[in-house]
Amino acid sequence: MSNAGEPVKVPFGSVKRELDECGDEIRAAVNRVIESGWFILGPEVEGFEAEFSSHLGGSPVVGVGSGTEAIHLALLATGVEHGDYVVTVPNTAVPTASAISAAGATPLFVDIDAASFTMDPKSLRELVGTQKPRLGRRLKAVVPVHLYGQCADMDPIMEIAREFELAVVEDAAQAAGAEYKGRKAGTIGDFGAFSFYPSKNLGCYGDGGAVVTRSSDDAQRIKMLRNYGQERRYYHEIKGVNSRLDEMQAAVLRAKLPHLEAWNERRRRIAAAYQTMIENLRVSSPACMDYAVHAWHLYVIRHPERDKLAESLAKRGVATLIHYPVPIHLQRAYRDLGLREGAYPVAEAAASEVLSLPIFPQLAEDEIEYVCRQVNESE
Ligand SMILES: Cc1ncc(COP(=O)(O)O)c(C=O)c1O
Repeated sequence: MSNAGEPVKVPFGSVKRELDECGDEIRAAVNRVIESGWFILGPEVEGFEAEFSSHLGGSPVVGVGSGTEAIHLALLATGVEHGDYVVTVPNTAVPTASAISAAGATPLFVDIDAASFTMDPKSLRELVGTQKPRLGRRLKAVVPVHLYGQCADMDPIMEIAREFELAVVEDAAQAAGAEYKGRKAGTIGDFGAFSFYPSKNLGCYGDGGAVVTRSSDDAQRIKMLRNYGQERRYYHEIKGVNSRLDEMQAAVLRAKLPHLEAWNERRRRIAAAYQTMIENLRVSSPACMDYAVHAWHLYVIRHPERDKLAESLAKRGVATLIHYPVPIHLQRAYRDLGLREGAYPVAEAAASEVLSLPIFPQLAEDEIEYVCRQVNESE
């Protein structure tokens, strides 16, 4: 049922349809792990790390427990510690900030670019320029978020980070397969963090994540951090956590990775169809930036009366979601930052207007047409 109590005609996603497409490969992968009796840090994780690394053009990859943990461990590896400050954006999934908090740091926010919905490099320069003299070396890192499957404008962000000696951890949780000027998302900063949450473009059947690194030394450090800080069993070099991608999830990911490019291509075709067929003049379509190959994790439109449109679509059986209704600085959990409404006007305006339409590789032609018709017939 949709949230208006009407039967869902177009779902937001469908694990069942994915299973119809590649279920045999996934069942075989899971079975392989069960039969092997090896569940933690074995051949499947190693195999996936190598295969995902090759998909990314060779950057070393370390599988970890989730996307949140990928950001957290990457921040620890850059040297972030208690009392430090890390810059990100307010219009992201809260886990971006959870990871910063878990590393003991305080998030600082910069507003977003109104077209791309990602970190505005001008606001970043302004914030870092004013805060660096005050915070000095405690201002440690920047976490740009490749929101909805589109990269942040990484060139100016990297330039500012280098100028002010800040580490860069790309939050590529939503951007598997996305590109920025010919480079894969996650391979541009000092570290890249991926989530394999089930609904992601590359999702597993539980929690999972990966850190992309620039060097085998960095990869080795993440490997220790994910495994209680030990380099070999019972010999602990640093203080770590338990955050390992498990064998079962790695096997599922190995079955799905070969489909990623084709699935992203289908997402691009759906996005293109939405772009041409949605004609409701009150709807703003999402922008695809010149520098980007978009992975279309989400197709997010804007509408001045978003809640009304969501309600109308729900009544017509079209499932929608809001990514995200409350920016992080206005969440109760982050009240201690003392930030008020009005602090980040572009992100706040987006939060009140964004609406995500169904986009997933197995969405059928007639469903795409149905969604467009319902959007066009709504106010
Ligand atoms: C932008 C972003 N960052 C971080 C995360 C956290 O990933 P996970 O749910 O795997 O911990 C997510 C996904 O929920 C996300 O969308």
